[in-house]
Amino acid sequence: MDGDLKFPDGFFWGTATSPTQVEGHVVNEWTDYLAADGGHCRTACNHYHRYEEDVDWMGQLGVNAYRMGIEWSRLQDAPFAPLNPKELERYVHLLDCLKAANITPMVVLHHFSNPPWISAAGGWLNPAAIPAFVDYVTKLVSALKERVYLWNTFNEPDTYASLTYLIGGFPPFHKWRFRSYRKVIKHMAEAHVQASRVIRRDGNTGKSPEVGIAKNWTYFEAFQKYSFWDHALATACHHAFNRFVLDAFLGGRRREASTYLGVNYYGRARLNHFQALVPTNGVSKARLKQLGIVCDDMFERHPSGFGLLLKKFHRRYGLPIYITEHGAASTDHDFRIRDLTQHLHELNRAMNNGVAVRGFFYWSLLDNFEWQFGYSKKFGLLSVDFNDEKLPRRMTKVGEFYRGICTTRGTAGMRENSHAPV
Ligand code: BGC
Repeated sequence: MDGDLKFPDGFFWGTATSPTQVEGHVVNEWTDYLAADGGHCRTACNHYHRYEEDVDWMGQLGVNAYRMGIEWSRLQDAPFAPLNPKELERYVHLLDCLKAANITPMVVLHHFSNPPWISAAGGWLNPAAIPAFVDYVTKLVSALKERVYLWNTFNEPDTYASLTYLIGGFPPFHKWRFRSYRKVIKHMAEAHVQASRVIRRDGNTGKSPEVGIAKNWTYFEAFQKYSFWDHALATACHHAFNRFVLDAFLGGRRREASTYLGVNYYGRARLNHFQALVPTNGVSKARLKQLGIVCDDMFERHPSGFGLLLKKFHRRYGLPIYITEHGAASTDHDFRIRDLTQHLHELNRAMNNGVAVRGFFYWSLLDNFEWQFGYSKKFGLLSVDFNDEKLPRRMTKVGEFYRGICTTRGTAGMRENSHAPV
């Protein structure tokens, strides 16, 4: 792992957030939700009022890109309604602040939340969500076409559809509804294709508009080499959450809708006796350690899989790739630094082997509202003290480290940290 890592000029070193997780003051299906730790998203990091300060922090981190969501529920209060001018103005101002700081925005159009009128009409099970979304996107692109050229339609459709209809973790909390899961994916895939056409037709920044989804990739593997059931379950999960979703969005001619593929990569879930061996599934870290599984507070880490995945996506789809999310949740910052270092080495190696990757967005800018888990998972480059009503941000050790990467374009900081294993 020694030696300088060279990343191409113009590579995006970014960070990412989503509206429900950081903005606060949202009215969507999450507003009244109480997470496992009793937390709710009603104030979150108050990024809604403090975005200028947060852009300053991004300047201090030295990032040149920011993957941010725009919250649909703020902009339309009914299907086909005009966009709310006050809320639009706020997002325009945020985009202008980013521009002044030389930070390129990637705008996410759907990140696990919907306007209440979409939820009331059956959410993405109802095909009426498709034209409503396309109408929203058409209006939004028309309003922002001079400011944004990088668009991300859907964040992790597989996570959204499985947590809403299979696992019961996200509103409306249904379980084992396989037909609903498939339907939601199909409707979102159709909305992606139609919205992408609009974006590619109307974008007007002087650069060709870019559009894609962000696919979460989890490796599902058998824990025991010789267990039939561990293998069978791993294969079934892989087909349902990876293959089926990629086919729906990128299979056949649908691939032509996207100009890139966004990849969110956190690691692996190994299956044993019908149980996923990951902390998010309630398995204790002590038990995972006993089993020899290295994980953060959410998933098993699997850096070598990252490089393999990038090569596989490159071969299969031939689309340029953005790493739309990678990060680790832990209060152990040395662990997070080692984890990041190992993943960036994998990324660099894949790029040297010809995989076209255009940028890397660290999840996340801030400690934030981690959906079902509330504020207990610490992903931030900046920490946020949620016990203090002023919600102070502080630079973390991993933030300092990432600043080194952003400002040296990937070289110096990593060499120092490349030896210790995660
Ligand atoms: C999601 C984020 C989430 C992160 C960490 C991704 O699945 O897009 O919203 O916070 O993973 O769990």
